[in-house]
Amino acid sequence: MMTLKINGRDHQIDAEPDTPLLYVLRDDLELNAAKYGCGLGQCGACTVMVDGNAVFSCVTPILLLKDKEVTTLEGLGTIEKPSPIQRAFMEEQAAQCGYCIAGMMMRAQALLQRHPNPSDQEIRAELAPHLCRCGTHMRILRAVHRAAEMMTRAETTDHGGTL
Ligand code: FES
Repeated sequence: MMTLKINGRDHQIDAEPDTPLLYVLRDDLELNAAKYGCGLGQCGACTVMVDGNAVFSCVTPILLLKDKEVTTLEGLGTIEKPSPIQRAFMEEQAAQCGYCIAGMMMRAQALLQRHPNPSDQEIRAELAPHLCRCGTHMRILRAVHRAAEMMTRAETTDHGGTL
């Protein structure tokens, strides 16, 4: 039994220490946003954040997560109250089949948390580990820029209005 902190809550997990985080999220906790694609760290569909960094949950054993903070797409916002990255991806209609999108959003979120105003080049480089067979790459790019603007606006408002 071990305790995992996921989306701000402690969860008691009864699983072998080498169990991949993705299995625990999907099979034990019903957090199904992260997807199983390759299971080998090569497609990005399973991406979540650990202490603010994007990681492939399919190749991350839970034993590495002691005292770490895991965030999944479910932890960013809800249908009623989506986070900026979730809103931006919806507004730009960035998903086609949608299978890869949760992973892309999590890596984009991690990027925007450390770099609030990335260039096209930087977004492309950051999302390079994510495979997508649909045709929405330009919309995804626009969505990340849109989320960056929303987050910057929210930040400015939080600190007492515009400059
Ligand atoms: Fe984890 Fe493909 S399922 S990288």
